[in-house]
Amino acid sequence: MIALPAYLAGEVDRIGIKWISSFPRNTIVNMPRASAVPLLNDYETGRPVGCQEAAGISAARTAVSAAVAAARLVDGGAQSCAFVGGGVIARTILEYLPVAGVELSEVSCYDDDPASAAMLSSHAEARLGVSRKTLGTLGEAFTRDLVVFATTAPQPYVPADVQLRPGQALLNISLRDLPPEVLLGADNIVDDVEHCLKAQTSPHLAEQLTGSRDFITGTLGAVLQDRVTFTADRRPIIFSPIGLGVLDIAVGAFVLEEAQRRGGR
Ligand SMILES: NC(=O)c1ccc[n+]([C@@H]2O[C@H](COP(=O)([O-])OP(=O)(O)OC[C@H]3O[C@@H](n4cnc5c(N)ncnc54)[C@H](O)[C@@H]3O)[C@@H](O)[C@H]2O)c1
Repeated sequence: MIALPAYLAGEVDRIGIKWISSFPRNTIVNMPRASAVPLLNDYETGRPVGCQEAAGISAARTAVSAAVAAARLVDGGAQSCAFVGGGVIARTILEYLPVAGVELSEVSCYDDDPASAAMLSSHAEARLGVSRKTLGTLGEAFTRDLVVFATTAPQPYVPADVQLRPGQALLNISLRDLPPEVLLGADNIVDDVEHCLKAQTSPHLAEQLTGSRDFITGTLGAVLQDRVTFTADRRPIIFSPIGLGVLDIAVGAFVLEEAQRRGGR
């Protein structure tokens, strides 16, 4: 029998908040874009029990949820995968895709900054032994089985008439690259409907364009419980996660417990 850590066994409950700051220009001087500080409190007493520098925790929870979604949404077999944006989040997703069971046949990257694109695909080859390709244009990314958006674009730039394939999967992690028209031609999975349809994300733009939320096929939670019916004509599938704070608290609490178990301070 495997002994679960107390947190996962439900013996320790935590609540908390996360403050995340995003400074895209940091990357110019080789600093990470995002810094995250969750404050963890005891559920019974409200006493603070932990304060962490948690950019890594935030990246890991984003990447794991994206990789789990990909594992459920892609067609079977090895996937050719294109990343649009090759920074920290792209690299972390790349590492977790095989862990979640997504076999990669090839990894490529398109980034406004060619050095970032080269770094991401070299990482794929060096760390995962997956063959890499250089993409000269954004359009080439859409010829791959799985397309991951992890840019810092503030508004859509992908052409509204971009051709997607039936069954092709897009992980819309940066949330503002795709115009609403692209979402309306696809099955759409989100992590939390209420939170995802805010702040001019692509799903929010689609809601404003159509005046309804009917374009949302379901949530990732429902997909994992086999409660989602995809459209019969097998459309492309777009996963748009806003990122759930509860996952930060869960992973942060796990990390804190592990650190305490190992005698860390
Ligand atoms: N949905 C979620 O749960 C979640 C969680 C964390 C981060 N994010 C988002 O993921 C994105 C990436 O974060 P990061 O930490 O990797 O950032 P980063 O700054 O490390 O990397 C972003 C990369 O995108 C490239 N880029 C920017 N605009 C581009 C464009 N139009 N076309 C091609 N490349 C472009 C940049 O050159 C850079 O290399 C951010 O938008 C962040 O808000 C989402």
